[in-house]
Amino acid sequence: VRVVVLISGTGSNMAALLDAAADPAYGATVVAVGADRAAAGLARAEQAGVPTFVVPFSEYPDRDEWNRALAARIAEFAPDLVVSAGFMRILGREVLRENTVVNIHPALLPAFPGAHAVRDALDYGVRVTGATAHFVDEGVDTGPVIEQVVVRVEDGDDVATLHERIKTVERRMLVDVVGRLARHGWALNGRQVKLGGAPG
Ligand code: GRF
Repeated sequence: VRVVVLISGTGSNMAALLDAAADPAYGATVVAVGADRAAAGLARAEQAGVPTFVVPFSEYPDRDEWNRALAARIAEFAPDLVVSAGFMRILGREVLRENTVVNIHPALLPAFPGAHAVRDALDYGVRVTGATAHFVDEGVDTGPVIEQVVVRVEDGDDVATLHERIKTVERRMLVDVVGRLARHGWALNGRQVKLGGAPG
């Protein structure tokens, strides 16, 4: 299974996928890593010899044009699956029509969607939060849930300490989910998932 990973930042989740994919038995290969900006994580992909591309959001007149450009770059790598791993942009119809996309989110959706999930969970005062992997639809952090892992909020946590604890489980969850999808297809948790580009 050919995977394109999209990142905006550090790319530690992407790096975990690269490490897992080094084993041929894993079932998935990262064929490219793309970003919407000069993301720090691109260097890690380059070191691993994985092609990278940047479609800078700021260089397009509007979201639709940017989405079309992104869809075209993704299509060059003919992926079976696109993974949004800390990609901080909303993917539009142009990308979603042609690709099955999995996103990871640092909260237990549908709680705390959006770009500030860890801060919002802390501000609310929840005692447990976690990480979610889900298929992407046109909403913000909506779409069928694939997997969730619970993380406890500890006394004295701030955004950085809580996010780091979540990211540790997030990386493991992402590696597990992508491996499962690669080896077993898109049927999940006893439900058949029908999405654009999804076999079956
Ligand atoms: C992850 O927690 C992801 O869910 C969030 O941003 C973080 C990305 O971390 N939206 P990294 O770039 O994979 O290290």
